[in-house]
Amino acid sequence: MQRIKTVDEMRAAVQSLRGQPAAAGNGKIHGARSIGLVPTMGALHEGHLSLVRAAKDRCDAVVVSIFVNPTQFGPREDYDRYPRNVDADCALLEREGVDAVFMPDVMEMYPPGTTTYVDVGPIGERLDGASRPGHFRGVATVVAKLFHIVEPDRAFFGQKDAAQVAVLRRMVRDLHFRTELVVCPIVREDDGLAMSSRNGYLLPDEHEQALVLHKTLRVIQSRFAEGERSAERLLSAGLFVMAYEPTVRIDYLKVVNPKTLEDVSEVEGRALVVLAAFVGGTRLIDNVLLEEPFLVNVIPAQA
Ligand code: PAJ
Repeated sequence: MQRIKTVDEMRAAVQSLRGQPAAAGNGKIHGARSIGLVPTMGALHEGHLSLVRAAKDRCDAVVVSIFVNPTQFGPREDYDRYPRNVDADCALLEREGVDAVFMPDVMEMYPPGTTTYVDVGPIGERLDGASRPGHFRGVATVVAKLFHIVEPDRAFFGQKDAAQVAVLRRMVRDLHFRTELVVCPIVREDDGLAMSSRNGYLLPDEHEQALVLHKTLRVIQSRFAEGERSAERLLSAGLFVMAYEPTVRIDYLKVVNPKTLEDVSEVEGRALVVLAAFVGGTRLIDNVLLEEPFLVNVIPAQA
């Protein structure tokens, strides 16, 4: 596994990975080997590794980036204390059979004097974008840079960050990137807590309290399965569950359109229930997708 620090080395590595012969039937594109990219900020866990495995299944060569991106953190957020453990991360990635790890430093990604950013418009100001001003501008900018450097055929993201997925889909469409986005399911701990690099901040009793996020979403999901379609009533069922953990402070709990992230009042077809909350000083997010059960067309028997 190559460990790469600079943009030039990364471009050269991609060229040589592409030049090697394609594995039969493994997403061959333009006669070269296909490249999968998994962007991360490191402190890797099973959620990240599920993306790496999906990339290995669908691409000939896999590049993982590890970069704690300063532009997506607000001034009072955890950029400085965000967990960094590149050696442990590389050991995990080596075991997964990753071809190259791109771990640039901040100066390499944002050369002094950088003034160009990717602004996705109003969608970037919803949900986490409302609570964390500039967050999605930072995410879109760094992902655009990574796409230009690696030029992946496919890039792999987690449904865990559903708003990030919506923002990046919009960016890919609006800026005509050729990269296909592949979205992978949320990986959870056995107790239901969605895996996150930030779970390590939680004290044992905070971890217990944090379980209320998933419990809340599951209750909303079961009300939906019972036939409830009013967002207001679905949310009040959720708030009832959240009230069992008064120390957990809700940032937002909403039913939104998964593509635009706008609020919906009545669920028709598909909707996303998104939840962000502070457990102690740690901000956690989670979500579930509500989907109408597949309706089978019953064709009346011929008389
Ligand atoms: P990071 O939080 O490290 O997450 C990297 C990728 O792993 C994201 O696509 C995220 O959705 C996915 N992921 C995290 N936890 C997951 C889980 N429990 N199940 C499934 N997937 C999970 O997201 C970022 O980094 C950054 O914003 C980044 C896209 C790298 C840009 O800086």
